[in-house]
Amino acid sequence: MKIFLDTANISEIRRAAEAGLIDGVTTNPTLLARASGGKDAKEIFKEIAEIVDGPVSAEVVGLDAETMLSEGQRLAELHPNIVIKVPLTEDGLKACRQFRAEGIGVNVTLCFSPLQALLAAKAGATFISPFVGRLDDIAADGMQLISQIRQIYDNYGMETEILVASIRHPQHVVESALMGADCSTIPPKVLWQLAKHPLTDKGIDAFLEDWKTLGQDL
Ligand code: G3P
Repeated sequence: MKIFLDTANISEIRRAAEAGLIDGVTTNPTLLARASGGKDAKEIFKEIAEIVDGPVSAEVVGLDAETMLSEGQRLAELHPNIVIKVPLTEDGLKACRQFRAEGIGVNVTLCFSPLQALLAAKAGATFISPFVGRLDDIAADGMQLISQIRQIYDNYGMETEILVASIRHPQHVVESALMGADCSTIPPKVLWQLAKHPLTDKGIDAFLEDWKTLGQDL
């Protein structure tokens, strides 16, 4: 399963890229507003795309297909790693089909149902982003949506990659991998949690204590 980092924070992206842990980055207007510090969004997309060797999702803000297409075409020119993120609306699907015809990668976002995911695949989306955490927030079952989309895409050999989004905790990542999701986009805090286990820390402490009794250097 590919791991994408869900942030526009450059230092977190650098840290994860230097650790060799990420295959791409996803952003959205909220994440940009949090991280920009007044910097131009297009400059941030470019900087991220230069750090990461993989797809970097940059979201359009227009609501009609024509505006999405002109915004997306400008974004796609920034760097070959840029993938255009469009919302799962009728206009978003229309823009998706056109971007794909032009050879531009598309991440269709804000997906909350298996039928929306089916339509995104039919529009040729590169990635579909189902938001599992936001479904859990309204007492629905976010991970059940992933399992449904996996089954539908497998039934028909659809090549759109399932990019699990709105991940809130490591268990979402475990279940995504078990269900055969293609990618998970993970907030930095959760990514660092994945590496942690109290028994690992306890084991290191015990080994170091025992090593001290040898009184040797390596
Ligand atoms: O990639 C979009 C997704 O990260 C949204 O997450 O936590 O705002 O629901 P959240």
